[in-house]
Amino acid sequence: MLRPSNARRAIVLALILATACGQAPAPSLAPAATLKDAFRGAFRVGAALNSDQFFERDARGAALVKAQFNTITAENALKWEHVHPRPNTYDFAASDQYVAFGEKNGMFLVGHTLVWHNQTPRWVFEDASGKPVGRDTLLARMRDHIQTVVGRYKGRIKGWDVVNEALNEDGTLRRSPWLTIIGDDYIVKAFEYAHEADSAAELYYNDYSVENAAKRNGAVQLITKLKAQGVPVAAIGLQGHDKMDWPTPAQQDSTIVALAKLGVKVNITELDVDVLPPAVQNRTADVSMRAQQDPRTNPYASGLPDSVQRALAARYASLFQVFLAHRDVIDRVTFWGVGDGDSWLNNWPVPGRVSYPLLFDRQDSPKLAFDAVIRTARQMRAEK
Ligand code: G3I
Repeated sequence: MLRPSNARRAIVLALILATACGQAPAPSLAPAATLKDAFRGAFRVGAALNSDQFFERDARGAALVKAQFNTITAENALKWEHVHPRPNTYDFAASDQYVAFGEKNGMFLVGHTLVWHNQTPRWVFEDASGKPVGRDTLLARMRDHIQTVVGRYKGRIKGWDVVNEALNEDGTLRRSPWLTIIGDDYIVKAFEYAHEADSAAELYYNDYSVENAAKRNGAVQLITKLKAQGVPVAAIGLQGHDKMDWPTPAQQDSTIVALAKLGVKVNITELDVDVLPPAVQNRTADVSMRAQQDPRTNPYASGLPDSVQRALAARYASLFQVFLAHRDVIDRVTFWGVGDGDSWLNNWPVPGRVSYPLLFDRQDSPKLAFDAVIRTARQMRAEK
């Protein structure tokens, strides 16, 4: 296998030769091996994109995305606060560009997300005087939103995170305004409205920490109930905001098995691996958590030691071994970001940390973890 450093040298040499021969050099910064090719036949590999990437203001990031991934998710552009900031005001400038970018590059497009307690403006749940609206009003608002947004991209965005993070850590339903105002059936309603808007789209339930027993049981109950009511849930999304020691490969494996038994696909939708020390006790991906800056929780501000780089590579290899073992039920593995510099983990739960959770570094160059993931795919092919 051509190692990325050798691959880069080969590319540079080719560019020098091409220039010397008077040919225009191909503007490719991508390494020779690609994730989308390495896993072809197993599952799609994707990334969540920020607007600089899909508007191609970040030309290097956009080139890397085109080279490496065959599915994309909008990290923020399709969330309610962006697309529907005020009553009767929709703003599709960014999401239209996201869809255009994906279509131009032949990618499977994911819509994230329709019904969530976060990044949803307060007005959605309130009347003009700031009092909570009633069930019928909120259902009408939810239906209008889903029909407008899903309808706009009908047949183009192929899968939607319809409901995001509806479960608490103990497996009960989160007491979000959706639940307290509408009641338990808000989830069924959201899927119903999305299916009405695009009956061919895949509809997903997406959540984090589902690998923990209590929350997993809650997810199993929820999906079982939805299926029994005929709700067309195509897949459950395991977000995969992982740590170096969590979930264990065994937890990852048993979670995929338990959910696949329900007759749904199990996608990995927001993968990253946090190498930094915990800054809060509750080590979930709850975005509301905040912690103070402290040098002890930001130990790699001037670079990631080789030993940690290697440990991250081994961790990614073991995760992908599990994913590959379940390739019959996994359609997609999506990273939550492209290069380390883009990751939300630089600002959560502590603002301004230097985090290293992805396969590409701050210059968008492949890390050892990239090599390890490619090698894992090649081993699988060799063993087949
Ligand atoms: O766009 C504004 C910018 O104008 C402003 O200057 C800046 C100052 O803080 O904020 C920018 O908005 C930020 C936005 O990301 C875009 O970068 C928000 O403050 C920040 O809260 C927001 O964070 C997003 C987070 O969801 C919020 O809920 C992250 O980018 C995004 O990666 C993260 O994604 C979630 C998934 O949707 C669901 N699962 C967990 C995952 C990670 O938290």
